[in-house]
Parts: sequence; C-alpha cells; structure tokens
Amino acid sequence: MSRKLIAPSFLAADFANIQQEVEMLNSSEADYIHIDIMDGVFVPNISFGFPVCQAIHQHAKKPMDFHLMIEHADPYLEDCIKAGAEIITVHEEACRHLHRTVTEIRRLGAKAGVVINPHRPVSALEEILPYVDLVLLMSVNPGFGGQKFIETTFDKVRKLKKMVDQANPEIIIEIDGGVNDKNAGELFNAGADMLVAGSFVFKSDDPRQTISNLKKA
Ligand code: DX5
Ligand code: ZN
Repeated sequence: MSRKLIAPSFLAADFANIQQEVEMLNSSEADYIHIDIMDGVFVPNISFGFPVCQAIHQHAKKPMDFHLMIEHADPYLEDCIKAGAEIITVHEEACRHLHRTVTEIRRLGAKAGVVINPHRPVSALEEILPYVDLVLLMSVNPGFGGQKFIETTFDKVRKLKKMVDQANPEIIIEIDGGVNDKNAGELFNAGADMLVAGSFVFKSDDPRQTISNLKKA
C-alpha cells in the first residue's frame, strides 16, 4: 500500500523569505521538507550549505529529508543530523563504500536512503536493500529543479516495488524530479510512497492547496 507522502523541495522556495516559506510548509499537509545539497562536482550545480539548512531547521516543524548530491558524503553526515536530518539519502554512484555510508547514517540515528540516477538499473540496488530504509528514484537528471519528468520512471517504480516487497516492504520508495498533478497518481499507483515536488509546489498560486492536491492524487 502506497503511503502517499509529499516532500516539497525547498530548492524552489523563495530564499529571501526562508521563514515564511517554512511556515507555509508547517501549516500544510507536507510530510517532509526535502533539502537538496549539491557540490558542483557530482552534479553540475551548487545549491546551498549548512548555514541555510540550519535556518530552515530553526523554523521547521516538519521532519527534514536531506538529498546529498555530493561526491564525498561521509564527512558531512553529522552536519546533516545537526541541521535536522531525519532522512539522509546518498547516491549509489557517488559512494565508493556505500554499505559503510548507509550503516553510518543509521548509526547516527537517521533513516538511510540510497538514490539511483535515471540511467541506472534498479537491479544495481539488490545487495544494498537490506541495509536501507528508503530508495529514491531520480525521475530527472540531478542538479536542477524545473526539469521534465522522464516517463520511463513509471516502469522503474514497478520493478523496484517488486524488489522491495521481497527484500523489505517497509522500505519507502521516493521519487524526485518533474513531479506534478499529471504524474503523481500514476506514481502512487505504481508503488511510490513519497513524492518530491519543487517547482510544481512553490511556483503555484496556492502552494498549500497544491500540496494537498498531490496527496490526494
Ligand atoms: C533535482 C533535485 C530535486 C528538485 C526537484 O536535482 O534533486 O529535488 O529540486 O525539483 P522539481 O520538482 O522542480 O523537478
Ligand atoms: Zn532532490
């Protein structure tokens, strides 16, 4: 059964008004605040660092979901926890010792997630599934908000759902990139538990209503 969780991506928020944006999310039906950290190495963009995360955390009444698009995650895991991370996801291609990294995330007290890029097969996750709480499927190439949803993601979710049901049905399936009201319903039906939405939420006329609509998709 899909859990229908929504995690608005703060990358699309108005950074001149962090407090108001977080308060809008606090009073919405959002389940998590998705935090995109980019290093300009693993992805061709730099987003924001821990001082900004701390500012978000200071006002946030929702749990924070950290998506690390960085080459060297290990030295920053504790910083993520201090900045409020309840979930930390790392890219399978970026972590040379992925098992060590996800084990460390759990030891620090957060849920550990692994992220897979659009071109990578879900079968690459087989051996790591017993050690994670969440799998994040990228439905765009990571690095930027506002990109077009890659349609082959639907089949990938179905494949992953089968694997997860066998390995550990508790694992949360999260989708990130180009999520909107046209694909949300089919993603939940295919087995997704949690949808990240950046532009679709923050650029809409009524972000709170948009979040609520996505939850009902
Ligand atoms: C992309 C980020 C996403 C992004 C989603 O690299 O990981 O979380 O903010 O933004 P939208 O929903 O606009 O595609
Ligand atoms: Zn993200």
